[in-house]
Amino acid sequence: MANPTPPPLRGEFCVETVPQSCGLVIFGASGDLVHRKLLPSLFSLCEKGLLQRTFYVLGYARTEMSDDDFRATVRADLTQRFPAADPAHVDSFVACCHYHVGGYDQPADFAALARRLQQLDAQYSLSGRHLFYLAVPPTLFGAIANLLRQAGLTAETGDTWARLLVEKPFGRDLASAMALDRELRQALAESQIYRIDHYLAKETVQNILVLRFGNAVFEPLWNRRFIDHVQITVAESLGVEERGGYFDHAGLLRDMVQNHLLQLLAMVAMEPPVSFEADRVRDERVRLLRAVRPLPPAEVVRGQYTAGTIAGHPVRAYREEDKIAPDSRRETFVAARLWVDNWRWQGVPFYLRVGKRLPRRVSEIGIVFRPVPHSIFAPLSQEDLHPNVLRLNVQPDEGVALTIQAKHPGPRLCLSRLTMDFTYQEVFGQEPPEAYERLLLDCMLGDQTLFVRHDDMEIAWSLFTPIVEAWEAEGEPEEYAAGTWGPAGADKLIEEDGREWLPL
Ligand code: NDP
Ligand code: BG6
Repeated sequence: MANPTPPPLRGEFCVETVPQSCGLVIFGASGDLVHRKLLPSLFSLCEKGLLQRTFYVLGYARTEMSDDDFRATVRADLTQRFPAADPAHVDSFVACCHYHVGGYDQPADFAALARRLQQLDAQYSLSGRHLFYLAVPPTLFGAIANLLRQAGLTAETGDTWARLLVEKPFGRDLASAMALDRELRQALAESQIYRIDHYLAKETVQNILVLRFGNAVFEPLWNRRFIDHVQITVAESLGVEERGGYFDHAGLLRDMVQNHLLQLLAMVAMEPPVSFEADRVRDERVRLLRAVRPLPPAEVVRGQYTAGTIAGHPVRAYREEDKIAPDSRRETFVAARLWVDNWRWQGVPFYLRVGKRLPRRVSEIGIVFRPVPHSIFAPLSQEDLHPNVLRLNVQPDEGVALTIQAKHPGPRLCLSRLTMDFTYQEVFGQEPPEAYERLLLDCMLGDQTLFVRHDDMEIAWSLFTPIVEAWEAEGEPEEYAAGTWGPAGADKLIEEDGREWLPL
């Protein structure tokens, strides 16, 4: 079923493990995420030969469907997403998919689920290794975990295991996140809980650690002596699409800043872990987050888009989108200046900006180095020599670029800026895999490195809960026209420090 593995690059060293076979139970199997992301990602793992041949998927939801109905939807998803896939591969994947109708609050339904899993385990000669994916609204997370425990499905003995993959959002403030966490941890041990932040599983985000700690040249420069500031931008051209109901209840600070942006910051700024073991890496992420100075709400810029134009197409204002209150004060843009109070980063600002309906989709981390201390190229002054910038392109043109000064060829001394770069597409001949592939694979392998630990989640909420509360109590977001780079306040935030946003 698997395609041949691409030939290794020269000097390539791979750590690749195929997980034990298991059953994947997906709650909310009739929903959007399952069909758009999860099942295509699982198929892609099969195509790459990264899963055992014996595994099964059990979709679970209230919607009435037979196994065959469910398989027909899976087949439709796969043929749309992978039009060139070998039909025999699609057939064999679809044949492993099953469906079980049940609710999310009755012990009897979970007892029936346990019986169905016993049958499937026997059919596939598997012995009680189950991964439960909660692709349902977060209000159901706690109840499902509890009912799984009551049905005896969370117990682990010998060679069997039970793991719970938990989607976002994980709470809406510190208190609710802690309450949810208590519920989950009454049902399962921390080692069984996999809290998803899909940004951690992006290939380019994992590459930050390899770049920093797999090379000797960067780390000596990676500190306040050589780095002037860091910029982290996550821009989307999309608006809230069909998720208006959820988004207008949350806002962008909850949706993307306290999780994705903060995790990017942690990956860039953390200390080297002593090893690449999950808890050693997570210890360092947590240690870094503990050093982030709490932000006064007044220093965080919030914006909301008005009508505008993106790529030549007119788009509606946020308040005119479906399921958005016409007087909504929810933010669709956030910019902030964060400080990390430790020896490495004292005095180095980290500027974050994230927004919807910006001119284009681009996520990038810019490390801006200090200027040279003195110019020997008179009459060019120190200010005429542009500082080096290392750009980590998270998406969509995944890669790394370093700008340096170089002599322009010719008899005169002319300096110009040039960029040394690599893109995944050019070097590896393929785009990086979907983050959900990595999340599913790592959970099957029992590797929690790219998942959020309970203390990680708690610190992130402690930092941002005062801000969401202050914003809910009073004030309005600044307006920005869709198709622009955010409100004037975002420029002011960085310009008052004598700096500017890197062009994107
Ligand atoms: P959906 O709203 O499509 O819900 C998934 C399924 O859950 C539904 O098909 C339905 O199945 C069941 N369900 C929905 N609402 C209720 C309810 N009120 N009570 C009981 N069951 C309900 O969600 P998504 O698939 O979009 O997302 C799943 C999870 O992933 C959510 O936690 C979401 O926050 C998260 N997520 C989603 C993303 C996305 O792009 N879609 C992105 C990031 C996170 P049935 O009625 O058949 O039981
Ligand atoms: C999700 C947010 O977590 O991340 C969405 O809920 C956002 O609002 C999405 O659009 C962005 O993810 P990606 O992978 O497309 O950058």
